[in-house]
Amino acid sequence: MSHGKKEWFHQAMIYQIYPRSFFDTNNDGIGDLQGIIEKFDYLVELGIDTIWLSPIFKSPQADFGYDVEDYYQIDPIFGTMKDFEELLRVAHEHEIKILLDLVLNHTSDQHEWFKQSRKSRENPYRDFYIWRDGKKPKGRKPPNNWKSFFGGPAWTYDPQTDQWYYHHFLPEQPDLNYRNPQVKKEMFKMTKFWLDKGVDGFRLDVIHHIFEDPELKDNPWSWRLFPSDHSDAFLFQEHRYCQDLPENIEFVKELRTLVEQHEPPRVLLGEVLGPPERVRKYYGPNNDGLHLVFNFTFTSCPFKAKKFLKVISTIESTLPEPFHPCYVFSNHDRPRMISRVGNDERKARLLAFLQMTLRGTPVIYHGEEIGMRQARIPRKRLQDPVGKKFWFSPIPVGRDGCRTPMQWSDDKNAGFSKCNEKDLWLPVEKHYREVNVKRQQNNPQSMLSFYRALIRFRKEHDEILFGTIENITTMKKHVLTYQRTYHQQEMTILLNFSEKSIIVTKDVKISSHDLGEISVSFTTYLDRNKVMIKMKNKNELSLRPLEGIAFRGSLPS
Ligand code: GLC
Repeated sequence: MSHGKKEWFHQAMIYQIYPRSFFDTNNDGIGDLQGIIEKFDYLVELGIDTIWLSPIFKSPQADFGYDVEDYYQIDPIFGTMKDFEELLRVAHEHEIKILLDLVLNHTSDQHEWFKQSRKSRENPYRDFYIWRDGKKPKGRKPPNNWKSFFGGPAWTYDPQTDQWYYHHFLPEQPDLNYRNPQVKKEMFKMTKFWLDKGVDGFRLDVIHHIFEDPELKDNPWSWRLFPSDHSDAFLFQEHRYCQDLPENIEFVKELRTLVEQHEPPRVLLGEVLGPPERVRKYYGPNNDGLHLVFNFTFTSCPFKAKKFLKVISTIESTLPEPFHPCYVFSNHDRPRMISRVGNDERKARLLAFLQMTLRGTPVIYHGEEIGMRQARIPRKRLQDPVGKKFWFSPIPVGRDGCRTPMQWSDDKNAGFSKCNEKDLWLPVEKHYREVNVKRQQNNPQSMLSFYRALIRFRKEHDEILFGTIENITTMKKHVLTYQRTYHQQEMTILLNFSEKSIIVTKDVKISSHDLGEISVSFTTYLDRNKVMIKMKNKNELSLRPLEGIAFRGSLPS
């Protein structure tokens, strides 16, 4: 088996759909599977080739689907198994792949296993979860000091059996006990069920959390309050014993073996929070673990060429070929990309251009392609349990602001649903009259047209899809540049992070035959794609403010 072979997912363009917010066909204020089917032409025209669906399994929705009650059923708010099968068929007819979101670390407290488990200490399902006595002498305190990612202790006391159960997230999301071989057996059986149904792979929720320290040792103290992509610590502890155990790597390797028994090839895309060295581990020691692992470091990178240079250089040195990075700028847990750069569309375009011209598989979150902004949700309409709990936090931690309904038009409810506004599960973001699909659809300069062109550009250039990445550097402080090469064909990328025009001169020599002219393959301004531009003084190339360009040719050797 070759672990360096290029597969479809290495050149894929993954589009995340948060089904609750995509399109509502039954007017209950919540998006559904028929809504995705109805909008399929939109997806085809956008040019994406893979969809990752946030969880659609039966769930009490305490964490909006990331708390699964039954992994074999579709939640009725989204539709039925028939609807899912139809979606899968429609997608495959259009050669679009579907990835499901698998939550293996925990279930809902309404899952039958947990209902059984909490009944008595002798119940056959007791050991499916992590139960312990409280701290001695009286057992009134949790078994150890572990904190939940969502705040508060990671243990909840259950008076019925006078023990505590462990949940890294909400109390409604008890962690499964993978030290019990039966649990893995059941979860692999379920994974196989979906593979046999024909899904093209999985996004694996918090896969670095599968195992916990067998002795449940106390976590060491730390100064850090908020989580970050660079450190393990938050809520004043280093989360050493509740995540990233070596057993997890064995687990993902076994999962890989399971999916590799299926043809055509399927993908495992992992969510691993933490520094790049950790991300690397989940690819497996011999690239025999997960195929792709999200890299989140862009989501918190300041808008500066040198900062991005550092992130990219780190990733490239941590994940050299044949490892394949997977860059993310936003998702259903993180603030909208455009709002992180002051709602400046030129900046958002530059970042999208960066994401799609690097070596790796890009994942974009629905709505980014029209420049949807982060919404402010009034307190009484908050839905996210984290946002509700920490509504008073000066640093917004709630996730509702990036989960608002997709903006299809300037009609009522942004064309997302025909229900009464008050019945929308979340209100629409207030700029929807300017920011919506209908308005942008036929405007060749719009953000949507930009994304369509960018996705097409990526698809049409083997240097971008398969090439090496070299000469990653900055010029004149604000210009980030790198070169993608495939079979001697070179593509140079220049990104001007400054709001001023910058002339790149001596640093850039174009090795095209016709010195003094370059053929621009793409510009984020969309106005000189595929045209030859004359360069002033033979080798002076002027980049406009916040412009990104790609051209055939190279940097000096
Ligand atoms: C992941 C999901 C997030 C969820 C958490 C617990 O980080 O992306 O939405 O709350 O896992 O399942």
